[in-house]
Amino acid sequence: MNEDEKMSLPAYNKNILCIGAGYVGGPTMAVIADKCPDYRVTVVDINEERIAAWNSDELPIYEPGLDEVVKRNRGRNLFFSTDIAGGIKSCDIIFVSVNTPTKTYGEGAGMAADLRFWEKTARQILEHAKSHKIVIEKSTLPVRTAQAMARILQSGADGISFEILSNPEFLAEGSAISDLEYPDRVLIGSGSTEKALHARDILVDIYARWVPRERIITLGIWSSELSKLAANAFLAQRISSINAISALCEKTGADVTEVAMAIGLDSRIGPKFLNASIGFGGSCFKKDILNLVYLYRFYGLHECADYWEAVVKINEYQKRRFLLNMLKAMFNTLAEKRICLFGFAFKAFTSDIRESPAITVARGILEERAQVVITDPKALAGARQEFAAEIERGEVTLAKDPYEAAYGCDAIAILTEWPLYRELDYREIYRNMRKPAFIFDGRNILDHSKLREMGFHVYPLGKPPLTDSGKD
Ligand SMILES: NC(=O)c1ccc[n+]([C@@H]2O[C@H](COP(=O)([O-])OP(=O)(O)OC[C@H]3O[C@@H](n4cnc5c(N)ncnc54)[C@H](O)[C@@H]3O)[C@@H](O)[C@H]2O)c1
Repeated sequence: MNEDEKMSLPAYNKNILCIGAGYVGGPTMAVIADKCPDYRVTVVDINEERIAAWNSDELPIYEPGLDEVVKRNRGRNLFFSTDIAGGIKSCDIIFVSVNTPTKTYGEGAGMAADLRFWEKTARQILEHAKSHKIVIEKSTLPVRTAQAMARILQSGADGISFEILSNPEFLAEGSAISDLEYPDRVLIGSGSTEKALHARDILVDIYARWVPRERIITLGIWSSELSKLAANAFLAQRISSINAISALCEKTGADVTEVAMAIGLDSRIGPKFLNASIGFGGSCFKKDILNLVYLYRFYGLHECADYWEAVVKINEYQKRRFLLNMLKAMFNTLAEKRICLFGFAFKAFTSDIRESPAITVARGILEERAQVVITDPKALAGARQEFAAEIERGEVTLAKDPYEAAYGCDAIAILTEWPLYRELDYREIYRNMRKPAFIFDGRNILDHSKLREMGFHVYPLGKPPLTDSGKD
């Protein structure tokens, strides 16, 4: 690029805006502010309560290490605000991290991504922008969404240019801060014009403050968008694959932990994401796979759509199977029994309950007319919201203390793999339960033979139950 060409490139200020202060926007911007003290980072949201929480001592989400990063930078170069218009005016680098849930109405309902929050954001940017902007897709979006965004932004902009980049987020809840600080890779998708490459390089420079350059991958914008959906589909597929094997283990006497170990030692397969469980949850896997399935159907690729849809179906099947196993083990009736759920978050180290398998399991137990007691170190607020009516009617009880939760119950179901559940005194818990006392370990985290010795009837997942001796 010669000097004249460089001169004609738009100049951008060092103010970063992130629209959407959720599980992605909040932690990601806190880390960017931490690593780039010369940038001023503002996170905005339409949800006033959420912004107030980001500005308080009690952050709206739980993530290990998040408190420290936020408190270190807040008020210095990290700000949380509801002034979306003001943010758009003053910041030239805009991340969009709004939610993109599954559509619940009209064409593509139950499958396609609902892009109304996304489109609203694009229109807000257009309305308030007074200078050149780099707009960065952080949300997970169907492939070619950047094109729609470009169309909206270019529809009314006079004299202002918008460069759109795709920078999907790969953080996992529960390890968001370390995933952001030490990412396996950062993807930055862009167009190929001089201006697009210039915008891309600005974002590359931001990440290069702390991410080794070889881990910052620049690629085409459509590949970047699709890579995020494909990565989540592959991850979820591994969980459904091992869960499908767990069902066969239960029928044949094989042990899914042994099988997972045996296949995970194959370096082409590897050991990660091979823990059999009650199924995956979280806000992303199901919606992103369904989004992919919808794209396939849109392009008439029905065989491929069926293939990926099966990943979601196995996940639903696994939750139902767990429930049916409970029912069968407890003499085909749960009515009037008390079942204690150890864990409600969709996985350990998060307060997030979105799509948590615990919700499905709890609802299934309630349908069988049993009482449900829920305990979880971080997700009781979510459980309180999810089961407000049932709590009111006395069908669901919440207890912070697991000993109190299990008191007088007929069964415990381990639904979230919080390490604290390994450390409990199960002898004491057993003493205070109704007999026969059952444990259904939906995460295979407990010492099953020890529990059996104490007298529990133990039902691990994907391996033979331990119930045979005469003890009750
Ligand atoms: N949660 C994850 O682990 C994760 C990981 C990677 C990618 N993603 C993707 O990132 C995106 C955001 O996910 P999340 O979990 O942070 O969602 P979230 O629901 O926690 O947060 C989204 C926020 O956007 C706000 N919002 C919606 N419309 C707005 C508007 N017009 N203006 C301002 N704010 C608006 C909402 O109020 C909400 O607070 C999604 O596309 C998701 O698929 C999520």
